[in-house]
Amino acid sequence: MSQLFQRKPIAALVPAGDVAEGAPGLKRSLGAGDLIMLAIGAVIGAGIFGAIGTAAAGQLGPNGEVIRQGAGPALVFSFLLLGAACALAGLCYAELAAMIPQAGSAYAYSYATLGELVAWIIGWDLILEYAVGNVAVAISWGDYFNTLLRGFNVSLPDWLTTGYRTALLSSDPKIHGLLASAPHVAGVPILVHLPAAAIVMVITWLLSRGARESATANNIMVVIKLMALSLFVVVGATHLKSANYTPFAPNGFRGVHQGAAIVFFAYIGFDAISTAAEETKNPQRNLPIGILGGLAICTAIYVIVGGVLTGMVPYKELAVADPLARALELAGFKTVGWIVALGAAVSMSAVLLVFQYGQPRIFFAMARDGLLPKWAAKLHPRTRIPWATTLFTGVFVAAWALIGDAGETYDLTNIGTLFAFILVSIGVLVLRYTEPDRPRPFKVPFVWLVCVLSAAGCLFIMYGLPQAAWERFGIWLVIGLLLYFTYGFTHSKLRVRT
Ligand code: ALA
Repeated sequence: MSQLFQRKPIAALVPAGDVAEGAPGLKRSLGAGDLIMLAIGAVIGAGIFGAIGTAAAGQLGPNGEVIRQGAGPALVFSFLLLGAACALAGLCYAELAAMIPQAGSAYAYSYATLGELVAWIIGWDLILEYAVGNVAVAISWGDYFNTLLRGFNVSLPDWLTTGYRTALLSSDPKIHGLLASAPHVAGVPILVHLPAAAIVMVITWLLSRGARESATANNIMVVIKLMALSLFVVVGATHLKSANYTPFAPNGFRGVHQGAAIVFFAYIGFDAISTAAEETKNPQRNLPIGILGGLAICTAIYVIVGGVLTGMVPYKELAVADPLARALELAGFKTVGWIVALGAAVSMSAVLLVFQYGQPRIFFAMARDGLLPKWAAKLHPRTRIPWATTLFTGVFVAAWALIGDAGETYDLTNIGTLFAFILVSIGVLVLRYTEPDRPRPFKVPFVWLVCVLSAAGCLFIMYGLPQAAWERFGIWLVIGLLLYFTYGFTHSKLRVRT
């Protein structure tokens, strides 16, 4: 029993210089500016360009049942609630990330604080945040890509731009009807989101060329995404109608809460930069700056975009895959809508890049600890990137994006990420007691208050998710535990070492 909760000493977690356990480690090449850009690159994406529509308008199931209530214009309160909760969790991440500057994010932190079993659960859970999150982003990217094509009067057939799960879960008779009207092979409807899978493979190729090049590409994309959102705000603000703000909160606090639970997706990613800790110069200083700075900038942008969006059109019109472009189109700005769609596609490419970058490094860290097979810990001899896991992640995400549904994957990602945030918040407190004297380059102020409020805030947001998300999350955790007890427990290097 005690082996299950065996902790990895922090000294073993922090590699000496660039060299970890005798093997050449990851290359330290990223500075504070790169990290803020990486954070914005990860944060602004499908959440603000896609999930925001469902958060404002609500969602119905295939039989007309209410899956979630929409926030309406009160969506700005959802963003403020989320900004506050994420700032608290961000402080917790910053303390651990600065203290344990190692690849693997919350996985590595929990190995040192809460022991191996919890570390495994978090590592497994982070697959939901990174890989499944990217499935959602890829699908949203594909939806905006279709909007772009329509600008050239090109339309791909519906069965090539709609995943099987989307058709199955949709309340729209036209989309649901694809189950019957799509081409069938051996009785199975062929319903795939081809653009979503294709973008994932392109990003995977880019990443396989090395981290530094990818950070540069990310910086360019961040500038483009900020320009696209500014354009939306400036043009949209000329078309605000006070009637659209009444009623301001059509579904009361319930709508604000359930809206927050899906648009939480827009905040995911500020923690992702801690996965780059092992490739960061002076991580003690740069990590907290990157995490909190990026989060503050994004919160301000979301509140402004949410306020403008819900003032432009009646909130019920926003239940579409491309709400920002649609709102501009409905307001008569078709060309601007197309340009914003282009910016959205670029933005989401940046998100895909950061998450496809983070996931292989978490797998890498887990494999280096023996919890995953050895091949996953291989670094490329020249570029020193974890190439095996980069390729594996690419294939996994592309395959799921081909048949998956955006809404379903938003929910699954959110519940997994919130759960990880809770464990990290608790981890900070635990470590203050178990290792009180260890140097902390960044310390959470009012640690009890912040950690407890952070965990409670995340739990509260989780409660706003539909029941199906909880069930799928439960199944995911059970699969993870089975894997741990059949493989990780017996192969863990920690056990071999002690
Ligand atoms: N926050 C990221 C997005 O919205 C995951 O796409």
